[in-house]
This record gives sequence, C-alpha cells and structure tokens, in this order.
Amino acid sequence: MKRVVTIDGPAGAGKSTVARKLADRLGWRLLDTGAMYRAVTLAALRDRLDLQNDQALGELAAKLDVQLPEGRVLLNGEDVSEAIRTVEVTQATRFSADSPSVRRRLVDWQRHFVESFREVVTEGRDQGTIVFPDAYRKFYLTASHDERARRRHAEFVARGVAISLETVLKDVIERDAHDSAREIAPMKAADDARRIDSTGLDLDEVVRLIEREILEPTG
Ligand code: C5P
Repeated sequence: MKRVVTIDGPAGAGKSTVARKLADRLGWRLLDTGAMYRAVTLAALRDRLDLQNDQALGELAAKLDVQLPEGRVLLNGEDVSEAIRTVEVTQATRFSADSPSVRRRLVDWQRHFVESFREVVTEGRDQGTIVFPDAYRKFYLTASHDERARRRHAEFVARGVAISLETVLKDVIERDAHDSAREIAPMKAADDARRIDSTGLDLDEVVRLIEREILEPTG
C-alpha cells in the first residue's frame, strides 16, 4: 500500500528532526520540502536574480536539478546541505515561497518524488493541505514562539553561526506571519490533521507518538 505521512507546521516546531527520526525508524523515505525552496533561493542569490520576479524564479526552478539523497541536498550535483541554511538564504527564501511559478514547479516535483517511493514522510507548510490532500496520516506540529526560537538558535550555535536569540525570535515570528498570510498555499493545518504542540516535549516523545498513530491507527 502507498502511504504518505505529512508533517506541517511553523519554523522551529521540530518538524525536520521529527520527520527525519520518524522516517529512520519506519524505514520510509524523507521529503524535506523546505530544503527545496531553500535550494531554489540559493541558486537565485548566486545568479543575482531579481527575487521579486516570479517568471525569472520559475524559469530558474525549472532548470535546476535538486536531489535529496539520504540527509543531504544536492543542487546540480553540488552538496549544498550547509549553504542553504545560512541566515541570508533563510531570510530570502520567502521570495521563492511566494512565487506561484516556483510553487507549481516544486509541488509537481514533490508529487513525482512520492510516486517513485512507496512510503514517504514529507514535511513542510502545505503538504497536508495542498500537495497531498489524500495523505494516509497528517500531522501539524507547533510549539511556542520562545521554544521554537530556542531550538532554531541552538541549531545555529551548533553550526558555529554567531547570532543572538533575539534575532532568531524576530525571524521566527516574521516568517510565521508571512507564511500564514501568503495568498497561495498559506501555512495552516489541514482539517483532518492531528495537531501536536511540542512545547516542553522531548522530540523523541513526539516521534513515538506519531509512530504509534501511524502503526496502530485507532480509526
Ligand atoms: O522548513 P524550512 O524552515 O526549511 O522552510 C524554509 C521556508 O520555505 C519556510 O519559511 C517557508 O517560507 C518555505 N516553505 C514553503 N512551503 C513548504 C516548505 C517550506 O513555503 N512546503
């Protein structure tokens, strides 16, 4: 049976960690859709494109080769796993995310990815609402602003990036507001998504909770 599990939610809610651990435990493929928007943005910044130009961004996205082998992101064969997570790319990614042409292209790509694999855990903002409305199970992961900023800040620190907690908190709040207000594919929980607030929870607990729901559906 084909099974797609979607995990949507705001920045820093723990989606990436939870989705990766869940995919590992289940032996399913992982689809990190945020990485795709980031990769398009990195390429656009390198090409010095006008980030407000939907057509130019769409044309760029159409000719890029983005691959997601286990835990890595390849852009035209180059490993950009680190390069797509800089503060500059993080902040500029809203332009790709707002671009209807980029979204069309990436949504096609995401559906194609899922066609190629039987069981997939996918994470993003619109996976349960727009991309896979018929997913097997849907989850919407949230946490308080402060907790999400702390997690994102810890990730930056672990990578040796000097940035203050206040700056990260401001970015998290701005990105949420922007992602939720977007005209196309705004970030929101699907009506049939299970909402999980991970504030104060250990992310391993969240993984086990989701795993139980997938493997022992209560109907
Ligand atoms: O999840 P991550 O922080 O890597 O996502 C980066 C940005 O990409 C988000 O802030 C959002 O604007 C955009 N995004 C999106 N739709 C998705 C995944 C990410 O618009 N499915």
